[in-house]
Amino acid sequence: MVVILLGPPGVGKGTQGDKLLEDLQWEKIATGDLLRAARREGTELGKEAQSYMDAGELVPDDVIVAMVEEKLASLPAETGVLFDGFPRTVPQARELARVLPKVDRELDAVILFEAPDQVLQKRISGRRHSPDSGRIYNIYFDPPEEEGICDEAGTALVHRDDDKPETVTRRLRVYREQTEPLVAHYRESETPVLMVDGDQEMDQVQADLRRVLSDTLGVEVSPA
Ligand code: AP5
Repeated sequence: MVVILLGPPGVGKGTQGDKLLEDLQWEKIATGDLLRAARREGTELGKEAQSYMDAGELVPDDVIVAMVEEKLASLPAETGVLFDGFPRTVPQARELARVLPKVDRELDAVILFEAPDQVLQKRISGRRHSPDSGRIYNIYFDPPEEEGICDEAGTALVHRDDDKPETVTRRLRVYREQTEPLVAHYRESETPVLMVDGDQEMDQVQADLRRVLSDTLGVEVSPA
């Protein structure tokens, strides 16, 4: 099974993907997380990606596709794959379609989350994450027990460099211009595009995501 989580910055792709994988032994391939890990490790890839990410621009397609291809090739064939933040352009989608058959896989569905821009801005301004546990928090909607400290890792939470208001505005524009056309691309290619309303309480979004996966794709997952 291969499923893409698609939607604007801050809509909850990372949060919902993580909650889902608490119950499903799939692998999440989140290109933003892979790039941030490469930056922390100071690799060439991380250095190349930094200026694009800080400006709210997309990292070049060839860099991203090489990273995803390597990750996909490392997974056992029976492991389901959940993409978060990839593909993000029509050329990336075409590359994914070329790469999947090489690892005996095919795309099953795209799940599209939506929420209004002012909701996304507020969520992003409140987002904090733990580089040690990977857990995502929100100071308004999902705070840690102790301010600024991860409940799991016990270490300091950080505010992403690209979560500054002016960069967020740029990221939202880039999403509408370069990523949203993927919806039409997948509809034309007859890949199921399944809608989930991202502008609801987190638990309700998770329940809707699981219902869509189970009812439409037959994925065996318990209701949230
Ligand atoms: P990436 O890390 O992929 O960021 P993004 O797509 O902009 O998505 P976000 O992580 O901002 O949002 P999300 O939908 O995961 O929301 P989250 O769950 O955190 O990419 C970063 C950068 O890397 C890009 O700008 C680009 O430069 C580069 N990049 C990555 N992939 C690339 C690619 N394929 N090609 C080229 N470049 C690429 O939730 C947000 C906040 O809201 C959290 O605080 C959360 O707690 C809260 N929240 C979530 N759901 C709810 C809810 N229902 N109610 C209230 N609060 C909620």
